[in-house]
Amino acid sequence: MNNWFFNELNHCGVDYSNKKQAEDYDNQHQKFRDYEKEFADMINFLSLSNTKELSLLDLGCGTGAIAIYASKLFKKIYAVDISEAMINQAKRKAVNEEIDNIEFVNAGFLSYEHSSEKVDIIMTKAALHHLPDFWKQIALLKMNKMLKMGGILYISDVIYHFEPIEYTERINTWISHFESIAGSKFKAEIETHIRDEYSTFNWIIEDMLKRAGFSFKKSRTNDGFLTEHYCIKTEEKF
Ligand SMILES: C[S@@+](CC[C@H](N)C(=O)[O-])C[C@H]1O[C@@H](n2cnc3c(N)ncnc32)[C@H](O)[C@@H]1O
Repeated sequence: MNNWFFNELNHCGVDYSNKKQAEDYDNQHQKFRDYEKEFADMINFLSLSNTKELSLLDLGCGTGAIAIYASKLFKKIYAVDISEAMINQAKRKAVNEEIDNIEFVNAGFLSYEHSSEKVDIIMTKAALHHLPDFWKQIALLKMNKMLKMGGILYISDVIYHFEPIEYTERINTWISHFESIAGSKFKAEIETHIRDEYSTFNWIIEDMLKRAGFSFKKSRTNDGFLTEHYCIKTEEKF
């Protein structure tokens, strides 16, 4: 490995390698998230109907918020995360529910090597912002390599849609909103996100996706922060 290569194990911002953090994750997130609904919304957004023969790779799967539901609809799930503590939470749920079609891999966007057949769908939710922009671009290129031609890339993450000049007001308003629905602990987590993690502007992400061989099918954001991109692999980069 080159000495200049990014070390994904150095968690920026919230430390998901921490066991306590991982154990508390679902309790915290379920104050403002409904995993089952999120999964159903994603399936609708992607207009997917016949999923039984499809494979899905979830990069930064965390505690399996989406992967657990996806396992019931898809043929095969690859669930990858850099944090062993988060993966362990996901594995525990899979065992409880007797799910046997998820392959869990403790690896990151940059270190994961997909050795099986290319997948039909790659998704990543609330995870890509852990990489600085240069490394996001490399991660997207790697996704190109792992996805079938014409396959789907679904990205859901905090991506900024405001004009740079508006940043103070837009960020403060967004943080106040989350504090009102999820409390002060989560407010602190969002402050950490903005300060120490690597969410970036939408035009940067859009350009990166194009350069990695993806075309846009659909995008949406309700609040100018939480963003979904539905892309198709239209160019082979390797
Ligand atoms: C906010 S959580 C999101 C988890 C899950 N996708 C969800 O929707 O609940 C972010 C996850 O990204 C993981 N992560 C951070 N850096 C990563 C990397 N370089 N490669 C893969 N996963 C990473 C963290 O360990 C954590 O589980």
